[in-house]
Amino acid sequence: AGSTPDTSRGTAVNLVDPDVYARDGAPHEWFARLRREDPVHRHEGDPERGWPPFWAVTRYDDVVHVSRHSELFSSHRRLALFPELPSEQIEMQRLMMLNQDPPEHTRRRALVNRGFTPRTIGRLEQHVREICHDLVDQVRERGEADFVRDIAAPLPLYVICELIGAPVSDRDLLFDLSNCLIGGDDPEYQPTPDQGRDAALAIHAYADALAAERRARPRDDLVTRLLQPDENGDVLSRDEFDLFFLLLIVAGNETTRNAASGGMLAFFDHPAQWERLLADRSLLPGAADEIVRWVTPVNLFRRTATRDTVLRDVKIAENDKVVVFYASANRDEAVFRDPGAFDIGRDPNPQIGFGGGGAHFCLGNHLAKLELRVLFEVIAEKLPGIRQTGPARRLRSNFINGLKELPVAF
Ligand code: HEM
Repeated sequence: AGSTPDTSRGTAVNLVDPDVYARDGAPHEWFARLRREDPVHRHEGDPERGWPPFWAVTRYDDVVHVSRHSELFSSHRRLALFPELPSEQIEMQRLMMLNQDPPEHTRRRALVNRGFTPRTIGRLEQHVREICHDLVDQVRERGEADFVRDIAAPLPLYVICELIGAPVSDRDLLFDLSNCLIGGDDPEYQPTPDQGRDAALAIHAYADALAAERRARPRDDLVTRLLQPDENGDVLSRDEFDLFFLLLIVAGNETTRNAASGGMLAFFDHPAQWERLLADRSLLPGAADEIVRWVTPVNLFRRTATRDTVLRDVKIAENDKVVVFYASANRDEAVFRDPGAFDIGRDPNPQIGFGGGGAHFCLGNHLAKLELRVLFEVIAEKLPGIRQTGPARRLRSNFINGLKELPVAF
C-alpha cells in the first residue's frame, strides 16, 4: 500500500477522474490490479475536485467489512459522498439517512422501510408492467429510439411518481431536477454548481408542497404513510422529509436508469445471452442480478474511520477517508467465477451493487430488481430483435456508472 497512481506509465488510472469513466466506463483492469497488488490503496485524492486523500478499497470481502461496521467506518462524520462540503452544509446533509449512523439511522430507516417491503413493492408489479408496455409501444412504430431517453430514463421516474403520487404533468420537472443533482460532473447535465444548488432548493420546495397537500388530504400512499408517526410516536421532521424525498428522487432514478441502459448494452455486447433470455424467461430474475453486478450503477461510497483501525495489513487512522468501490468488488475473482463474463444464469450471484450489507443496504433494491425484470420481460416479448445502431455515450461521473445515449433499432 502507499503508492500513488502513476498515470505516466499508462497502466495506472486516477480513480477519481470523471473523464476516465466517460471514456471507457469503470477502469476494470486497474481495479483488478489493485485487488491483486494493493487492495487497500492509498489514493492522493484530487484537491481540485474536493477529494482529500483516501483509502481505495477494492476487494469484495473488504467492501463488505467496511459496509457492515458502521461503528468503525462512519457515514456521519464527514458524510457518505465526496466532494467535501463546507461545514455549514454538513449539518443539513446529516439529516439525510444516507449520512447517518446507527442508532439514529436505524430509527429513520425503520420509518421509511414501511413503504419498501417486498410485499408493498410486489403490489406495484402490474403497474410497472403497464408502464413498460406503454414506453415500448410509444417507440415500436418508429422502428428506432434512444434507449436511454425513451425507455431507461422514463421508467424509474414514472414508477417513483406513481409511488409518491406526483401528477403526470410533473414528471418532466422532476426528471430535469434529478439530472441536475446527480450529473454534477457532467456539464451536459449540470453546467454550473449553482444549478445543482437551485435544483436541490426546487426539490425541497416541491417536497414541502407535496407534504402540505397530503396532510390536508391524506391518501393511501407512501407520502401519507411517511408523514404519519410510527407506533412509538416517531415522525420525520420537515427537513428530514424533504431530504428523504430528495434522496428518493435521486437514488431511485439515475441508478435504475443506468442499470437498464447498461443491461441493454451488455446484451448487445453478449448476443448469446440475449438469445438465452429469449429462449428461457425463467432466467429473468437472475438476469436482473447479473445486470446490477455487471453495470454496478453506483460506483462507490465513502466512510470515515471513527478510530485507528486495521484493514488487511494497512493501518487506517482515525478520520481517514475510506472509499468502497462496488464496481471492483463485483468483479472480484475470489468471489465470482469468471467475473469478466456477463452470464445471466450465474448462480450463486452474491453481487453487491446495492451495497455490501449493513445499515445502508439499498432501500430500493426490491423495486429496482422488479423494474429490471419486468422491463426485459417486455422487451423480450415486444422487441426481440432490438439492436444497437451507434456508439453508447457514457456519463462523465466517477460516482455513477451511466449512459447518456444508446441508439437502437428494432
Ligand atoms: C442506498 C444502489 C435503486 C433508494 C443505496 C446504496 C447503493 C445503492 C450502493 C448504498 C448502500 C450502502 O451504503 O451500503 C442502488 C442501485 C440501484 C438502486 C444499483 C438500481 C439498480 C434504488 C431505488 C430506490 C433507492 C429504486 C428508491 C426508490 C435508496 C436509498 C438508499 C439507497 C433511500 C439509502 C439507504 C440508507 O441510507 O439506509 N442504493 N440503488 N435505490 N438506495 Fe439504492
